[in-house]
Amino acid sequence: MDRELVVVIDFGGQYNQLVARRVRECNVYCEIYSYKTDLAKIKAMNPKGIILTGGPNSCYEEGAPTCTKELFEMGIPVLGLCYGAQLMQLVLGGGVEKAPVREYGKIEVLVNTNSKLFSGVSPTTVCWMSHNDYISKTAPGFEIVAHTADCPVAAAQNVDKNLYAIQFHPEVLHTQEGTKMLSNFVLGICGCAGDWKMDSFVENSVKALREKIGGGKVLCALSGGVDSSVAAVLLSKAIGSQLTCVFVDHGLLRKDEGDEVEAVFGPEGPYELNFIRVNAQERYYSKLAGVTEPEQKRKIIGEEFIRVFEEEAKKIGAVDYLVQGTIYPDVVESGLGGESAVIKSHHNVGGLPDCVDFKEIIEPLRDLFKDEVRKAGLELGIPEKLVFRQPFPGPGLGIRIIGEVTAEKVHIVQDADAIYREEIAKAGLDKSIGQYFAALTNMRSVGVMGDERTYDYAVALRAVNTIDFMTAEAAQIPFEVLQTVMSRIINEVRGVNRVFYDLTSKPPGTIEFE
Ligand code: XMP
Repeated sequence: MDRELVVVIDFGGQYNQLVARRVRECNVYCEIYSYKTDLAKIKAMNPKGIILTGGPNSCYEEGAPTCTKELFEMGIPVLGLCYGAQLMQLVLGGGVEKAPVREYGKIEVLVNTNSKLFSGVSPTTVCWMSHNDYISKTAPGFEIVAHTADCPVAAAQNVDKNLYAIQFHPEVLHTQEGTKMLSNFVLGICGCAGDWKMDSFVENSVKALREKIGGGKVLCALSGGVDSSVAAVLLSKAIGSQLTCVFVDHGLLRKDEGDEVEAVFGPEGPYELNFIRVNAQERYYSKLAGVTEPEQKRKIIGEEFIRVFEEEAKKIGAVDYLVQGTIYPDVVESGLGGESAVIKSHHNVGGLPDCVDFKEIIEPLRDLFKDEVRKAGLELGIPEKLVFRQPFPGPGLGIRIIGEVTAEKVHIVQDADAIYREEIAKAGLDKSIGQYFAALTNMRSVGVMGDERTYDYAVALRAVNTIDFMTAEAAQIPFEVLQTVMSRIINEVRGVNRVFYDLTSKPPGTIEFE
C-alpha cells in the first residue's frame, strides 16, 4: 500500500506511543521503531519525516542509546523530542549537560512564532517539561526558537537542513498547543498531505484481504471483544462465508453476553460468515471445581480454551489462514516495534496457533491503536455497544470471583454486575468511567432480612479511572447511585447481604480482584 509514512524512533521514553498517536491524529500514518533499527531499513521505508522520542538516559553517558550523524544527513526532516532533541544536538556538535535546575511539570514557554514549528502557536504558551539534562550549547547551524525561565534552549532549528529539536513534550496533552506543533512538523515541514483516514483504511484493507486470501478458508477465534469483533467484520466484508468464527462461551461471561455476541455474529445477525458457538460452560466449571489460587484459575481457563478450540478446529479441518486481533500496542509492547518492551503475558491466550492446521496468520488490525480500531468498527457499522465495550479480561468472571468458582457464584456476580452496569448507565456515567464491574468476595457474613438471619456473600463494586490501565484511581461515584445499586443488589440477587465499594487505587491494588 502506498502511503505517506512518518517514522518515530523510540529511545525508551514513556510517551512514545503517544507521539505516534498524535501524528496519526493529523491523519498521517506513523510507525514506531527501536533506535537499534538499521538506518538503511528506515531509509528504505522512504519516510516523509522522522521523530526521535524522549528516553530515560543521559545521552552523554557511555552506553546510552544513540544514533549516527547520517540520520540527520539523509535529507529527511527530523524532529527530536526531549532526549531526542538533546541527542540531535550532541551528535551534531552541540552541548548537553546536567541542568542546574530540573524542570518538571507544566511550564510557561516563550516561542518564536516565525519558526515553521510554532506557526499559529501563541507566543507564550504552556508546555510539559520533564528533564534533568539540558542543551547547554546548540550545534552549529542551529538557532534557538523557544526558551523558558530555566531552560535557555527549549527549542532549536536548523531550517536549511530541516532539523528541529524540542526539549519539552508536545505529545502530552498538558502541552496546550502541542498537537499544533506536531501538525506543523508533519504537515508544514515534512509536507505530508494528511489524508490517511479510517474509511480509506477499511476500504484498502478489504481490498488487500480479498487479494491475499483469494478463495482460501479463514478461521477466527471470536471473543466478542472489540479487537476480534472488528477483525471478524472486516474479514466478513472481504470474503463472506469463507470465514468461520468460533466463539467459546466459557460460562464466565457477563450476563447475557454470549447471546448478545450470537445476535450480532450468528445466523440472525447482519454479517455473512459461519458462526460456531461452543457452549463449554459445564466443562469449565468442572475443571475449576475446588481451585482457589488465581494464577492456577487463569492457567486452567487458558488451557481449556485451547482444548475447546482445538476440537472445533479439528472438525473444520485445515484452513489457509488464522485471524488474530493483534493491535499496534501489542506489537510495540511485545518488543517487535519500539523500545519500551513490556510483555503482558497474562493478557494473551498463548498457544492458539499450535492447535490449528493453517498456513499463515493474518492480523488485519496490526497497525491500529485502540481508538482507531473503534473508529474502524464504527465505520464498518458494528453496534456502538460492542465498539465501546469496556475491557473485559480473557479469564472473565473467573478472576472476579474470589476463591472457588461455581455456577451459583457465577450467577450471583452476573446479576449483581448487570444491576451495577444498568444503574451506572442510568446515571449517565458509563462513558466517563474507565472500567467498572461487580466482583464476588469470598466473605460470608451475618445479616438480617425481614425477620430472618442471613449468612450470605458480600459483593464488591469496583470503578476506576485510568489512562493506560497501568495505574488507576477509584472513580468518585455519587453516593445516591451507590445506594441504589446496593439496595437493588440486596433485594434482587439471592445470596448477597452486603455490598462494598472498593476505594483502592492501583498501585497498591490491581483493577481486577485476582
Ligand atoms: P489489573 O487487574 O492487572 O488489570 O490491574 C489491568 C487491565 O488488564 C485486564 N486484565 C486482564 N485481561 N487477561 C486479560 O485479558 C487477564 O488475565 C487479565 N487480568 C487483568 C483488566 O481487566 C484491566 O483492564
